[in-house]
Amino acid sequence: MGTVRTQVAIVGAGPAGLVLAHLLHLEGVRCVVLERHDRPYVEGRVRAGLLEQGTADLLRDSGAGERMDREGHVHEGFELRFDGERHRLSTMELCGRTVTMYGQQEVVKDLLRARTEAGAPPYFGVDDIVLDELTGDRATLRCTLGGTPTTVRADFVAGCDGFHGVTRRSVPGGHLTAYRKDYPFAWLGILAAAPPAGEELVYGVHDRGFALHSMRSATVSRLYLQVAPDQDLARWPDDRIWAELRTRLCPSGEPLNEGPVLQRGITSMRGFVAEPMQYGRLFLAGDAAHIVPPTGAKGLNLAVSDAAVLAGALASWYAGGNREPLDQYTRTCLRHVWQAQDFSARMTWLLHPHPGEDPMETRLRRARLRHLVGSRTAAASFAEDYAGLTRDPAAARRGADLAGRPSAAAGGRRGRAT
Ligand code: APR
Ligand code: PHB
Repeated sequence: MGTVRTQVAIVGAGPAGLVLAHLLHLEGVRCVVLERHDRPYVEGRVRAGLLEQGTADLLRDSGAGERMDREGHVHEGFELRFDGERHRLSTMELCGRTVTMYGQQEVVKDLLRARTEAGAPPYFGVDDIVLDELTGDRATLRCTLGGTPTTVRADFVAGCDGFHGVTRRSVPGGHLTAYRKDYPFAWLGILAAAPPAGEELVYGVHDRGFALHSMRSATVSRLYLQVAPDQDLARWPDDRIWAELRTRLCPSGEPLNEGPVLQRGITSMRGFVAEPMQYGRLFLAGDAAHIVPPTGAKGLNLAVSDAAVLAGALASWYAGGNREPLDQYTRTCLRHVWQAQDFSARMTWLLHPHPGEDPMETRLRRARLRHLVGSRTAAASFAEDYAGLTRDPAAARRGADLAGRPSAAAGGRRGRAT
């Protein structure tokens, strides 16, 4: 029987867990990261790839943005296609913000490299974690590390283990309230070895369903199609996928480059929030606490934002014993979480004809689209949400919110951990 003693035990090596570990390391707070899967699996998992400016700034400021700056692409706007028309919205002009296209798994690879260089890579293949004690003087969890049954004793546990993880489920009944919305459609996503047809993302609304043309590099495109939620991938051979993408995205013969499909998958559309995001010495971050439908690509950005808030709160505790930011963790995060939930839900309804939709609803949706592209105020409001104007984890980490006031999460943060 082994024992590991640390300050923060982080469960899960996705973006939330790895950003948290990276920021804690910079603050001199000791942590261990425990991940269920092996490294190739974690590095190979294809997810979204749109980083809000605040997310990109946080990675850059913390020294993890070098490859992102070299290989990622900064976008100042995107295109919306509907009714055979093309409309460009410039987030730069509308709210002074950009987004960076850089795959989530590339972020994960960069952060894993940083952990390895720091001499503290995650433990991989840890698939039997049991949380024992969360409310006493210390937190304890049990698992097998390198074949040895081990007790991990920590001051705090960070639950960064995604929606299906163990940490949220370890909170005793009655302490968490779950809010949930399932959408009556899903996304079929492909990664294709084909140069993107244009410089910017194209969101296409068509009577047959939504489609999105995104990208990962100058040679790899990422494309999505709205499909039924119970869709079997076997019913979508490559020819059918490309034909449907062409119909929905290129109604007037706009270009679309085809190429070998490198990866494919179905993403369900769900909104979920667990409140509060903390219980005793356990703090939930990222998908462990909340899920958004993928339409606005907010999942990764929220995970990074939670991790930055939690890192600041923990650093504050270790620097001067200030418990306030930890106590306020849920409150600080939920403001951003619900704002992103609201935007993701609105964007989802705006862009997806839903099954059984009556003609009145179809016309209302079209009127909303027209309002978006016809009113600068409406477009600016959308752009602010899309680019994450009010969520700035980099600023939170630097110790000031957008108005320049000291943020709760940064209060008292100084020096090294004891
Ligand atoms: N023990 C240890 N690790 C676990 C366990 C467990 N019981 N259960 C899950 N994990 C690991 C998963 O294998 C995964 O590597 O936790 C990690 C969670 O990572 P993500 O699911 O990527 O969640 P998060 O870090 O919160 O990032 C959110 O990921 O799902 C996307 O769209 C979402 O972009 C968003 C982002
Ligand atoms: C993606 O590239 O995966 C992506 C981009 C923008 C979105 C959603 C997903 O709105």
